[in-house]
Amino acid sequence: MSETKTITMSARQFDQLRKIIYERAGIHFPDAKKYVLESRLGRRLEELEIEDYDQYVQFLTIGPYKDDEFQEMFNKITINETSFFRNEPQLEVFEKQVLPKLIEARAGNKRLRVWSAACSTGEEPYTLAMIIHRSLGVRLMDWRVEVLATDISEKVLTDAQGGRYTDYSMRTTSPLVKQRYFKQDGPYWVVDPTIKSMVNFDLHNLKDRMAAKRYGTWDVIFCRNVMIYFDDTMKALVVGGFGDQLASDGWLFIGHSETLRGLNTPFVQTTVSHGFCYQKGVPTSGSTPGSTFGSSHGSSHGIAPAHVHAHAHGVKPVAGGALAAVQAALKGTAPSAKPATTGLKLT
Ligand SMILES: C[S@@+](CC[C@H](N)C(=O)[O-])C[C@H]1O[C@@H](n2cnc3c(N)ncnc32)[C@H](O)[C@@H]1O
Repeated sequence: MSETKTITMSARQFDQLRKIIYERAGIHFPDAKKYVLESRLGRRLEELEIEDYDQYVQFLTIGPYKDDEFQEMFNKITINETSFFRNEPQLEVFEKQVLPKLIEARAGNKRLRVWSAACSTGEEPYTLAMIIHRSLGVRLMDWRVEVLATDISEKVLTDAQGGRYTDYSMRTTSPLVKQRYFKQDGPYWVVDPTIKSMVNFDLHNLKDRMAAKRYGTWDVIFCRNVMIYFDDTMKALVVGGFGDQLASDGWLFIGHSETLRGLNTPFVQTTVSHGFCYQKGVPTSGSTPGSTFGSSHGSSHGIAPAHVHAHAHGVKPVAGGALAAVQAALKGTAPSAKPATTGLKLT
């Protein structure tokens, strides 16, 4: 057994490093998480045979390897926890409510663009491709579907492109999906080549709003379980960018434990069944961007009350109650159901 020597990080060194990390990637390490940074970077210092954090800061900020070292550092400090079909209720909203509406709305140009921002090892974008694949069925050959998957860590993107997963990644995946979209190769589950071909991967730092513009306009953006590592300033920057890049009738999904509440963003939250997502819209007095509609007043279906949705989206309450109102809004059958447009067009 090899002996590991703990390299102590002083409060000053912690402060210096967390500033560098925040400036570069927007990842915020609060005081209470000093031990996390210390244990993750400690391993990196051992690999480099560097004896203290002052030397490491120099290595990270000066000299020919600084950019490479940033990559190595992100590979160590980011949390890549994910799985196929993670958070089923949210994905059900995507599959049953959002996709049918988009497929109808895009029937003219038959183009669908979905971005999985902070995709980790690829389980999320492949899941989205599988859902689109089974939703479009044979129609897929007539459609131009693009699923873009981006992350700040090169290592996770390399793993994602491999498309080979262990049981751990499959822990929230039904036997039917496993059978339909994977082949077994020893202990690995290998993603079906058709699904693989639907997904493109790219290295992208969410802090770099300018760089994100090259991706154009999206129908759906998934950015789940990364904003928990950002402070409000970074969240507002990232989500503001999504606001610019989402089609006027597009949808934003964030992690189920994340919220945009209290942030000045162009989004209003829509709660459907046990899931929720965001659409661009102009909040009226009484609802703020990112407010949770109906979570405490919702019906037994967990759906926001009709008047709350009606108020937020300018839809009149629909006979038949909350479910009917939400479904009408999602189907676009209520004439004024669409959120206010911003003039963005699909590219
Ligand atoms: C917990 S995983 C989330 C994976 C997936 N979205 C999900 O919900 O299952 C968080 C990912 O965010 C990435 N990440 C952290 N900071 C980032 C940044 N500034 N830009 C892009 N990706 C970032 C990490 O590398 C990591 O892979």
